Amino acid sequence: MTATPPQDVTTQRLPPDAGGLRAAARLLREGRLVAFPTETVYGLGADAGDGRAVAGIYAAKGRPSFNPLIVHVPDAEAAARIAEVPDRAADLMTAFWPGPLTLVLRAREEAGISPLVQAGLPTVALRAPAHPLARHLLREVGRPLAAPSANPSGRVSPTTADHVMAGLSGRIAAVLDGGPCPVGVESTILALDPAPRLLRAGGLPVEALEEALGQRIAWDTDPARVAAPGQMASHYAPQGAVRLNALAPEPGEVMLGFGAVAGELTLSASGDLQEAAANLFGCLHRLDAMGADRIAVAPIPETGLGQAINDRLRRAAAPRHEGLA
Ligand code: TXA
Ligand code: MG
Repeated sequence: MTATPPQDVTTQRLPPDAGGLRAAARLLREGRLVAFPTETVYGLGADAGDGRAVAGIYAAKGRPSFNPLIVHVPDAEAAARIAEVPDRAADLMTAFWPGPLTLVLRAREEAGISPLVQAGLPTVALRAPAHPLARHLLREVGRPLAAPSANPSGRVSPTTADHVMAGLSGRIAAVLDGGPCPVGVESTILALDPAPRLLRAGGLPVEALEEALGQRIAWDTDPARVAAPGQMASHYAPQGAVRLNALAPEPGEVMLGFGAVAGELTLSASGDLQEAAANLFGCLHRLDAMGADRIAVAPIPETGLGQAINDRLRRAAAPRHEGLA
């Protein structure tokens, strides 16, 4: 099911100052949808306790309703009001929050979260973003915010307010413009039940989690448990067809370079993975804007943030599912 079709609204672009934050918080408390910057990507926020507002997220994104949403909180204390927090999760929160780590935990019954957020699961995904504007907004609203990435379902995540406007203008009340997102790929998602399972590689390298936990972390590959759009093969897709591990473009291809492999666009000329992550979605958006129908991408090392970058690129290169976008 998707909720009622989104109504045409004029989407306001709010400035990153006290007035903009106040206006954003007021809209959110009224049950409206507001996109806001996090250090990873822009999120499409709604009051997580307001079922109508949460339904509006699914409608605005055209997202299948079985895909649960991440709840954004200011800190570990707020998380503990929503979910059961085992010691190991508390340790990870201390080590990595605020930051690009989402933890999937067992939800409390009295959490006050709309059931649509969890999409029928007994668990809830929680994250405390580090971006100063996201933190100010969470404090000003005083409510946990459900927020998936602020893009139409199946498309590339937004890392600027312009990307948000290109995808969702007319479908949401406002976007709080905080400039480009510094990390540029979505948060790392970890489940603990009780063994740690990686649900999505992301802005926090998995090596850092393994070091903190003192153990190797396995990828979750059980398709029955996984109804996450981040795990659908075709996702994060630009319009054009994508060819990976290319050392040079073939005729008709636009080359996306990295390090020594030069391109018309480059993720990082110096081969820096942090810079490449920050540039990734911006480059895919630019390739869309250029109308590139065939895209060749240079090889990216599979370490640190390279895991998240390669994961997104593999999904961008996968055969497309009809009806996902
Ligand atoms: O960096 C991020 O995580 C961004 C910013 C806005 O915070 N958010 C984001 O949300 O990427 P979204 O909705 O695009 O991706 C959330 C992922 C989805 O793959 C969803 O299925 C999964 O989290 N997820 C949410 N709740 C879950 C749960 N209870 N169990 C398993 N996966 C869950
Ligand atoms: Mg997303």
